[in-house]
Amino acid sequence: MFALVCKDGASDVQAQCAGVFEVHVVTAMSELKRLAAEGELEGVFADARLGVASVVRERLTGVPVYEYTPPFRVDAAMRWHEQIRKAAPEFPAQQTFTLTSSPSPPPEPKPKLPNPERPRSVELPFRHTVSAPVRRRTPVIMLDSPKGGAGRSTLGAHMAYYGALRGKRVAVIDLDSFGDIAQKFGFADAPDVRGWRGNSVEEAVRDGVCLVHESGLHLFPSAQSKEVVLQDPEYALHLLQLCLEEMDVVLLDMPQGWTPIHQAVLPYTTQVLFVVVPAVDQLARIQEHADKLVFAGLSKADVSPILNKSKKARSDERAMAQYLLPFSVRAVVPFDPTIDKRGGINGKRIVRAMKPFWDETFGFVAPQRRRWFGLFGQ
Ligand SMILES: Nc1ncnc2c1ncn2[C@@H]1O[C@H](COP(=O)(O)OP(=O)(O)OP(=O)(O)O)[C@@H](O)[C@H]1O
Ligand SMILES: [Mg+2]
Repeated sequence: MFALVCKDGASDVQAQCAGVFEVHVVTAMSELKRLAAEGELEGVFADARLGVASVVRERLTGVPVYEYTPPFRVDAAMRWHEQIRKAAPEFPAQQTFTLTSSPSPPPEPKPKLPNPERPRSVELPFRHTVSAPVRRRTPVIMLDSPKGGAGRSTLGAHMAYYGALRGKRVAVIDLDSFGDIAQKFGFADAPDVRGWRGNSVEEAVRDGVCLVHESGLHLFPSAQSKEVVLQDPEYALHLLQLCLEEMDVVLLDMPQGWTPIHQAVLPYTTQVLFVVVPAVDQLARIQEHADKLVFAGLSKADVSPILNKSKKARSDERAMAQYLLPFSVRAVVPFDPTIDKRGGINGKRIVRAMKPFWDETFGFVAPQRRRWFGLFGQ
């Protein structure tokens, strides 16, 4: 049987394949791995818009992947299948075959461009409906990690403070119900801020929903209520919309793992800070999380893995690289034994390790020129 990984239009593919290929819609990498392990999987049909074909190939060596650009055409898939069937004995198991479109597709009517201001609703292959990315200028940085205690809040607090001290209007929204980012800025008692629906950041400050740090940074603490396990995604979106209007950069301190809040804010996210610690017992979780980010449609440029609490930078990076694929490590932060003693936002080693990344993200330095440009210019 064949697995179908698609953004939408699964029923159309299945209807076209009826009587030709047995097609099952797959929504997670773990499902693909299971089918492959059971020896059930003849091949994978992957929607090119998701950009997952290369990851599937890396993870499932020996399973042919047919990457198609919608609309799916069963005749092209049949030709591809025929080629594989003929070539299979001569080719090694790792050989993959890709046809991105049929050899002579009929001319397609031009698709209507969506209105950029209105998020388009699309079905992603993990049973949630979220809006397509909204191209906005305000950078929204998601502090994300598969497991708690990796250092999302610590790295996020340092980053926000760094930007605010250099004149950026920075907002931090704590979307983790068990979050403590407010304490890192010295705010002891965060108020219970559930359900607030004001119309501006100024109003939020007046109502105590938003705390203002001496650096100018604006902080929306989490609900801090024992009854709340997960914050309301609608509420998270409301705060985010306000900040998008008025701030230069927004940092979202996310709950650990993969939650409905992730689904709600992902369309607005411009950069995911994928914070992980190099620990053997977390590798499977880290790999699964990387897969989820890929399946959510994020590209290599959108996700920045950060190795935190590293004791051996070089070897940690080498060891972790394969679990973070297709993303590549952007910074390695050393373990700083003094940070818990001093607390707050005083991690000098963190600043040293993260500074190049922050400068680039905040736009404080121009991207480095390649040397050969200079040579040609002479
Ligand atoms: N580079 C580092 N060196 C040493 N300790 C660190 C480092 N980064 C974070 N820590 C410590 O690790 C602990 C967890 O960090 P933090 O609260 O930022 O993680 P988190 O991912 O936000 O976790 P949570 O799920 O609890 O919100 C804290 O005590 C923090 O001081
Ligand atoms: Mg935290």
